[in-house]
Amino acid sequence: MAEEKINKREIPPEIIERVKKLREEIDYHNYRYYVLDSPVISDAEYDALMRELKELEEKYPELITPDSPTQRVGFKPAEGFKEVPHVEPMLSLDDAMNEEEVIEFDKRIKRFLGFPEDQPIEYTVEPKIDGLAVELVYENGVFVVGSTRGDGYVGEDVTNNLKTIKTIPLRLRKFTEDAPDIPPRVDIRGEVFMTKEEFQRLNEERVRKGELPFANPRNAAAGSLRQLDPSITAKRKLDIFCYGVGRVDGYKFKTQWEILQTLPKWGLKINPMVKLVKNIQEAIKYHHEIERIRETLPYEIDGIVIKVNDLSLWEKLGTKARSPRYALAYKFQPTQVTTQLIDVVFQVGRTGAITPVAILKPVQIGGVIVERATLHNEDFIKNLDVRIGDWVLVQRAGDVIPQIVMPIKDRRTGKEKEIVFPTHCPICRTKLVKKPGEAIWRCPNPNCYASLVRKILHFASRNAMNIEGLGEKVARDLVDKGFVQNIADLYYLKLEDFMKLPGFAYKKAKNLYEAIQKSKKTTLARFIYALGIRHVGEAMAYLLAEKFKTLDKLMNASVSDLLSIPGVGYEVAKSIVDFFKNEENRKMIQRMLDAGVTFIEEEKKEEEKPKILEGKTFVFTGALKSMTRDQAKRKVIELGGKVTDSVSRKVDYVVVGESPGSKYQRALQLGIKTINEEEFLKLIGKA
Ligand code: IVH
Repeated sequence: MAEEKINKREIPPEIIERVKKLREEIDYHNYRYYVLDSPVISDAEYDALMRELKELEEKYPELITPDSPTQRVGFKPAEGFKEVPHVEPMLSLDDAMNEEEVIEFDKRIKRFLGFPEDQPIEYTVEPKIDGLAVELVYENGVFVVGSTRGDGYVGEDVTNNLKTIKTIPLRLRKFTEDAPDIPPRVDIRGEVFMTKEEFQRLNEERVRKGELPFANPRNAAAGSLRQLDPSITAKRKLDIFCYGVGRVDGYKFKTQWEILQTLPKWGLKINPMVKLVKNIQEAIKYHHEIERIRETLPYEIDGIVIKVNDLSLWEKLGTKARSPRYALAYKFQPTQVTTQLIDVVFQVGRTGAITPVAILKPVQIGGVIVERATLHNEDFIKNLDVRIGDWVLVQRAGDVIPQIVMPIKDRRTGKEKEIVFPTHCPICRTKLVKKPGEAIWRCPNPNCYASLVRKILHFASRNAMNIEGLGEKVARDLVDKGFVQNIADLYYLKLEDFMKLPGFAYKKAKNLYEAIQKSKKTTLARFIYALGIRHVGEAMAYLLAEKFKTLDKLMNASVSDLLSIPGVGYEVAKSIVDFFKNEENRKMIQRMLDAGVTFIEEEKKEEEKPKILEGKTFVFTGALKSMTRDQAKRKVIELGGKVTDSVSRKVDYVVVGESPGSKYQRALQLGIKTINEEEFLKLIGKA
């Protein structure tokens, strides 16, 4: 007793000092985050500081001052938007990081309400969407004003921007009989977010244009919504999940579950995974379930929100300064951590693009060890002002490659080294080039080792030519040995060549050789994709195959032909035309066709053509009337035969077209069977 009194009266000086320090730090980070839009610590680290301060203030309430960061909900709205007061304040949530804290939350509620400990409380559980909170005001069913959360009391008017979001109804309607009538006024609360896919698309576009990518989908969503020009918001695909109400006139909801059940009946979108649970244990179970599927969701969530279901209890429980007592955010492990940047390597990509890659001191992010992160391009490095030796904030967002969000400049020692972007290709030493308006340096040497390896890997990949057994090691060895200098060479390799590769005995060599032969029979779409034309991904390749039907037609298409296809823009069209104009590329393609690459319809792929020409070798001389010589050659190969250019005793047939050359003479000399076009067609069953 006496001891307690003394403790209360005499707060240890180190505690007073710590509280002061925490407030200074938090104020600084608030300033970095809200004013400069350039935070220097992760959200998790910020939360930890805030929690420590809150805990100390709970223990020593005498230390609370009105200007303590714990006493404030948020921040002032930015200038440029009209202010919108929230009739009911938009509060934030207390966080829990582990089970004990969640159980304590449940116990605290029961203590507060005077419930026995073993009386279960019903909760709603909802994914905590990582976006930004908004309020939508509906008067007589009409969407009149939409605003951001702002400082919780006053937000920014982003009505016009919100109107570009297709899932926000401009008018509420009673979509089911059992729905309550639309109240004369209802304020809807929800979270605006951007999908991971849209985030990636947007960032790729920004990097291509030389703009800075957004650090995460939440920033991208916030940046997109807080645009003074709504046409920019409209171009970014935003979405919303509604999760609550503020002021409601003329109707009284009884439970949070009723709110969640009613909103969709009025046309508002809620998260499909919301659930009603019987007690806190079930809420904890839900947290684990959601955390397990977290990565598979198309949008980011950073935890779950647990809310007491019964709204009459909300009133009894009330709120604290910035958060209610009836709800809790049960967070997941953070996806942002700090680590040190050890080195930067420059990777040469399939299109010769040079990508700087950060080598990091290995660190766990959400259960995965991260050792590398992309630095995108030279401008990105310059803008971030990141240096070797820096402590950096790293984040992993869904299936997005780990990113460096920013260097933590406060932790610099002065020993950090500037990252010097190379002027020459790190592999082949060719001088790098950069097109005007582009942000990416490229190695212009088409035979550059690294880009060649990547081209081979891309060519062989599952959705391209699907050559099983051709992985990175083999691709490198093939290039190292000089066996492949161009992807067409793959089709001219002999079984013996593979046996010279390290680790290859007969069986492995045969398997790879056969896999390559098998890949010759493919679809046009796969082949187009496999060529690795810049801007031509899988879907574009399918589109092109469908529109042009033959490779010849595609190869001779003009920019305007291509532009007439919906979905093909100028950049893509130009890239395709340039690719096929290139003499080297044309030669490479011709060599592959000569080697027997043929295109079949997708569904017929597995169907085997009868190998009626198996073991027969053909030579063609002179022009054919019914088809080109290449078509004839491909036909032979399709039917299991072989085609060669020189007449020798190994040749079975010399096909003689119009105005034959010296091959005809030679065939006669050697006594090789010669046939005319008609006989050839008969042979292949096409007379
Ligand atoms: S309820 C008083 N439910 O999390 C209750 N919030 O830190 C306030 N959020 O500002 C919010 N999903 O931006 C609630 N299902 C959900 C949510 C959710 C995301 C966000 C919201 C809020 C923040 C609380």
